[in-house]
Amino acid sequence: MLLSFLSLLLLLASAAAAVAEAEAEVEVEEEMVVFVLAGQSNMAGRGGVVGDRWDGDVPPECRPSPSILRLSAALRWEEAREPLHADIDRARPCGVGPGLPFASALRRSAAATAAAEGPGAEAIGLVPCAVGGTRIDEWARGAPLYAAMVRRARAALERGEGRRTRRLGAVLWYQGESDTVERSDAESYGGKLETMILDLRSDLGLPGLLFIQVAIASGEGNFTEIVRKAQKGLKLPNVICVDAKGLPLEGDHLHLTTQAQVQLGKMLAQSYLTYGTKAMSFSTGNRTKAKFLCGLLVAAILCIL
Ligand SMILES: *[C@@H]1O[C@H](CO)[C@@H](O)[C@H](O)[C@H]1NC(C)=O
Ligand SMILES: *[C@@H]1O[C@H](CO)[C@@H](O)[C@H](O)[C@H]1NC(C)=O
Repeated sequence: MLLSFLSLLLLLASAAAAVAEAEAEVEVEEEMVVFVLAGQSNMAGRGGVVGDRWDGDVPPECRPSPSILRLSAALRWEEAREPLHADIDRARPCGVGPGLPFASALRRSAAATAAAEGPGAEAIGLVPCAVGGTRIDEWARGAPLYAAMVRRARAALERGEGRRTRRLGAVLWYQGESDTVERSDAESYGGKLETMILDLRSDLGLPGLLFIQVAIASGEGNFTEIVRKAQKGLKLPNVICVDAKGLPLEGDHLHLTTQAQVQLGKMLAQSYLTYGTKAMSFSTGNRTKAKFLCGLLVAAILCIL
């Protein structure tokens, strides 16, 4: 009698240990923080593109990693590789953009934290949506690019076969160069961007969604300063502005070079790490179930005793 009671206890204890282990695994392997990348060519990436060809140069900061994924045009998760926007911004050749160096910088910082405080690094999911040469009007609610961005963000947050818990970390936005040609476009830019951010937050049901925008470094027209002023003056909560002015440009005086994109990626990561944790985020799941099972086992053991 005593023997069977003891073996029952042993069994329960090992079951509890298994659940605890499963819970730890959930934390380490099944969380993914998602970033939407939207805007025009400098977000899609033209680093290393000369004429109609990308030079294929991939700096260490842009190399693939098993824990950095991208959502393909066909809505599948795959290991992220340059050019990140190849199947999204298809009309022109894509090169290096800020997405991968951003994700690598976050991973490096997470690895440093994990080394100091134990495991906890999340996978990173990038959702490329940027298309070259697009104006802010093409990103307004009702326009196809806006609809595609919302559809892809929603798909990224669904729990797929990977069973990962998903959380939207931020939208990274780099656009405005095409709104510098007409004075009226430049002057209405700020209001349109603000409306777009509010619409996006509302359509995703995330009123506190962090929005990190890049103040443009170049423009197609003469009104770049007006657009930059609007970007830097945006007054919505949880909107951060990272200034790209002064970063090296390709010979076209419009597109950031590969090294400039690496630097911009690091700047975006720094601003996310500084402000991102203060903003609200969104989970598609949590560990309630594992905790519930653990509690059930503890209750069973207590009952028997
Ligand atoms: C910018 O201004 C210059 C000088 O006034 C003019 O020649 C040029 O056409 C303008 N560029 C655009 C894109 O409007
Ligand atoms: C976790 O999920 C359960 C239901 O699935 C929900 O009731 C609970 O509020 C969630 N907890 C957190 C912290 O999100």
